[in-house]
Amino acid sequence: MLSKAEALGFAPAKVNLTLRVTGRRPDGYHLLDSLVVFADVGDRLSVAPGDGLSLAVTGPFGGPLAAEPDNLVLRAGRLLAEAAGVAPNAALVLEKNLPIASGIGGGSADAAAALRLLSDFWGVALDAAMLQAIALKLGADVPVCLGCAALRMAGIGEVLSPVPVLPPLGLVLANPGLPCPTPAIFRARAAAGAGFSPADGVPEQGFSAPADFARALAASGNDLEDAAIAVQPAIGTVLATLRTVPDLLLARMSGSGATCFGLFPTTAVAAQAAAAMRRDGWWVWGGGLYEPPLRAL
Ligand code: C5P
Repeated sequence: MLSKAEALGFAPAKVNLTLRVTGRRPDGYHLLDSLVVFADVGDRLSVAPGDGLSLAVTGPFGGPLAAEPDNLVLRAGRLLAEAAGVAPNAALVLEKNLPIASGIGGGSADAAAALRLLSDFWGVALDAAMLQAIALKLGADVPVCLGCAALRMAGIGEVLSPVPVLPPLGLVLANPGLPCPTPAIFRARAAAGAGFSPADGVPEQGFSAPADFARALAASGNDLEDAAIAVQPAIGTVLATLRTVPDLLLARMSGSGATCFGLFPTTAVAAQAAAAMRRDGWWVWGGGLYEPPLRAL
């Protein structure tokens, strides 16, 4: 059981089970329709008293971030302090366990964790709408990461709506170890002449069986997958490898890649599948969905 501070600072991987590009705003941002869930694996943010706002980065994927002067976590802290009228004093430590620029929202989840953890640490009581507005300023995926619960995401990420009950799912995440920057994938998609899709919508009723849920999802897709494979062909290899694993229910790319996910009937089967898929240079994880203990956030 996580302590309150550990739960607030846990930044789980975001997985886009579906992702449609439904349009484009005049400012260039894309309108999306996506069913988002969170996996039980993530970065960990912790906080201690400090003079000014500082961030130390540790963990297997911390290297490139340590040298970054303006990490999203620090920007989140500054924006929150400004909005709440408090002095931005805190010493943050980020344990980076998720690969960077990998389509599972690591940076967005970290920024959302910073907003949750520092709100508590500084005793800030901003209402949910204000916190959502700060989150959106930090990135399109940050609002959905505030609650870490399954949601349907529309607009550029700011229109969030509830989804029916999901079954317990086994989940594998597999990344070929190559970054996949989001703007490059949107550009490649536009260059290929891809148009816009209608929204998939979310089924009205809940699901109790993973296989039924996966069947319902099979009719949808990820509109960025083809462009991402063209930019980063290793994504095709990851998907092909997932599709050789026994008991797979569905394989698809998350976000703008390069991480792909596989759905499996149980957490235990997913953990076995992940063990069977490991390759040199790949990041592969198997487990289940994250259940946020603090639903109020
Ligand atoms: O919001 P975030 O910083 O994650 O987005 C990175 C980039 O991805 C944006 O600058 C934009 O080029 C592209 N993007 C987009 N439409 C979205 C989200 C991101 O075009 N809904």
